[in-house]
Amino acid sequence: MTRSIGFRLAAWYFAVFTCGLAIFSIAAWFAMRASVFHAVDDELRDRVRGVTHFMENQISSLSLLEIRDEFREHSVLGPGGDLFQVCDQQGQWLYRSVPLEGADVPIALPAALPAPRFEDMQIEGHSLRFYSQRVVVNGKAYTVQVASLMNEAYEAMQRFRLILLLAAPILLILASIGGYWLGTRALAPVDGISQTAQQISIENLEERLNVPQTGDQLQRLSETLNAMLSRLASSVRRMKQFTADASHELRAPVSLIRTTAEVAVQKRDRPAGEYLQALDEILEEAERTSQVVDSLMLLARADSGKEAVEAVPVDLCEIVRGASDQGEKLARTRGLHFAAEVPRGPIWIQADADALRRALLILIDNAAKYTPAGGEIVVRCGSRNGIAVASVSDTGMGIAKHDVAHIFDRFWRADKARSREHGGAGLGLSIAKWIVEMHHGSIDVESESGKGSTFHLRVPSRLERENLN
Ligand SMILES: Nc1ncnc2c1ncn2[C@@H]1O[C@H](COP(=O)(O)OP(=O)(O)OP(=O)(O)O)[C@@H](O)[C@H]1O
Ligand SMILES: [Mg+2]
Repeated sequence: MTRSIGFRLAAWYFAVFTCGLAIFSIAAWFAMRASVFHAVDDELRDRVRGVTHFMENQISSLSLLEIRDEFREHSVLGPGGDLFQVCDQQGQWLYRSVPLEGADVPIALPAALPAPRFEDMQIEGHSLRFYSQRVVVNGKAYTVQVASLMNEAYEAMQRFRLILLLAAPILLILASIGGYWLGTRALAPVDGISQTAQQISIENLEERLNVPQTGDQLQRLSETLNAMLSRLASSVRRMKQFTADASHELRAPVSLIRTTAEVAVQKRDRPAGEYLQALDEILEEAERTSQVVDSLMLLARADSGKEAVEAVPVDLCEIVRGASDQGEKLARTRGLHFAAEVPRGPIWIQADADALRRALLILIDNAAKYTPAGGEIVVRCGSRNGIAVASVSDTGMGIAKHDVAHIFDRFWRADKARSREHGGAGLGLSIAKWIVEMHHGSIDVESESGKGSTFHLRVPSRLERENLN
């Protein structure tokens, strides 16, 4: 069964408070009892001292009868002072106050009393606390026993216990109500947050939670949730854009294939050359489409985290050489000069050679596409400060400053018409960027409009391995 946090808080509060109160009450009761006994015992000791003092002063000069009279006189002076009895070594009474004699309260002989002794007794319905002490006066030992009536003290203690027992449940009820009220009050904003959160779905991801300006955990929670919503919203925006762009990108070649085929079959008996040309166009468009589909599939797999690169120690120079061989052919067909300035190496890096070669080819392909015939492409590689760098420079059209921020976005092309001429869908650099990032590296570009561009592809090099080998 689920209970609200408010209820659970109140229950905890109740449990902790009950324990606290119980401990406090027991401690208070014992403290009170100890202090009452302490006071009574002090008074009893004082009285024994008083009696002893009296005996020291009087005993030598007076007869037994006179002593008894003196005692009687002396005893009525103090409160409860008449409750005492004194006997000597033989058990002969020096003095016995009337109530004690009436109840025949026993007394220990001095010899049987090595240490002072406290005793509690019930006598004729009264609670009495006795204190017996052996005293020596003029070389003779006596037992002086004094008593104090405890009825009032016990009553006070009982009253105190009653107050505690009555007050505890009332305090507990009040504390529980207070705890529940505090809990629900403190958590009320959470209900607000969850209500708003329930209303947010993929359709209205732009909505945000109210942020209570309290500077506490709830404010932080709302802010964190809002930040999460912002991230989700921008991901969803990107996904929507991607789907829209992808379908647009695929619709164009498919409709081109369809129209070419339709035109070809509309008028029968064309010369074979025209059919061939139509088929050529269809083939070219189909190839382009399958390339776009391949790229899209790769990016989709990359997004889902399923596409992983298998990094092993490889020589970057080797990879650059491999990509340059392919790139050179490409450059030649476009009438461009191509140069590869690759050191003998090796430059060890931890990488998936095929993936990295693919990224380099994307850069070389772009350089070839966006450089007019007669231009030059140079591929270099090197390593500095633990970073291995491969770069592709061209003397092509370059990229305008305000476009540089977008070139790695999916489907982004500076000049849609011209790029499309070359069959580009605007996915190449997104794929290259993903590949490099999977290698814990980065990709950046230096470019000047009309003069050319240089793309740098940086990955951490394995200097240690190089030194070891
Ligand atoms: N070397 C370059 N010189 C000038 N512009 C470039 C260069 N490389 C990329 N660009 C610009 O960046 C855009 C994005 O490049 P990207 O490689 O992602 O797409 P694409 O080449 O248009 O298509 P795809 O690579 O998918 O066939 C290009 O359309 C182009 O405008
Ligand atoms: Mg490209």
